[in-house]
Amino acid sequence: MRQQIVAGNWKMNTTLEEGLELTKSILEKVEKPRGLVVVAPPLTHLRDVGKMLKVRKYFHLAAQNCYQEEKGAFTGEVSANMLASVGTEFVIIGHSERRLYFKEKNDVLAAKVNVTLARGMRPIFCCGEPLHIREVDTHVGYVAKQLKAGLFHLKEEDFRKVVIAYEPIWAIGTGRTASSLQAQEMHHAIRVLVAKKYGKAVADDTTILYGGSCNAQNAPEIFSQPDVDGGLIGGASLKADDFAAIIAALK
Ligand code: 13P
Repeated sequence: MRQQIVAGNWKMNTTLEEGLELTKSILEKVEKPRGLVVVAPPLTHLRDVGKMLKVRKYFHLAAQNCYQEEKGAFTGEVSANMLASVGTEFVIIGHSERRLYFKEKNDVLAAKVNVTLARGMRPIFCCGEPLHIREVDTHVGYVAKQLKAGLFHLKEEDFRKVVIAYEPIWAIGTGRTASSLQAQEMHHAIRVLVAKKYGKAVADDTTILYGGSCNAQNAPEIFSQPDVDGGLIGGASLKADDFAAIIAALK
């Protein structure tokens, strides 16, 4: 069944103390969400935030990244096994900031998807085009390539565990949101692509989130689109009131 999800990607923000305070406020403000709520704090907070979220069944813990190798001499990196061992349930993979600043390429992202699934966690796989691609109207093909390279090697059983997040790069942290129609157009194109590869039943069950300057004001209209199943939220997930209002906009 297709799930409605709002996921908060805190990125590199909050001290542990601030993160725990934010989690407490979110838990206080969100009563009965119409879907799943996923929180992706920084690595250092995972265990403590996870313990707080565990008391409520709709809340789930995510990491913002993982390393693609199982274990070994990779100083500074964290494996999927380590993330799973502190209660992580989802892993954000292929965020445009990872692709841009850390030069993560498709083969590495596909490997991260594999290790995440192998450890029983669910990838939130990000895709999305930069502005110059949108301007020449090749955005659908661009995103299709990202999905094929990162996900379409999976068997159906594994693909069913994946959440896709469409995040147009020009809309991330810029205050410039995709219009609800632009979001719907891309989400529909992604669903058609998934249907071609895995069949209509799988495509209908696939959760596709929108991300990019999503806030309490624009979330209701974006989430109302038939192929938008919730959001991956950056800046607005750092304010409990805003995050709660976005969660309340789930259909
Ligand atoms: P903003 O909501 O701050 O634009 O960030 C979106 C994002 O990158 C979530 O992963």
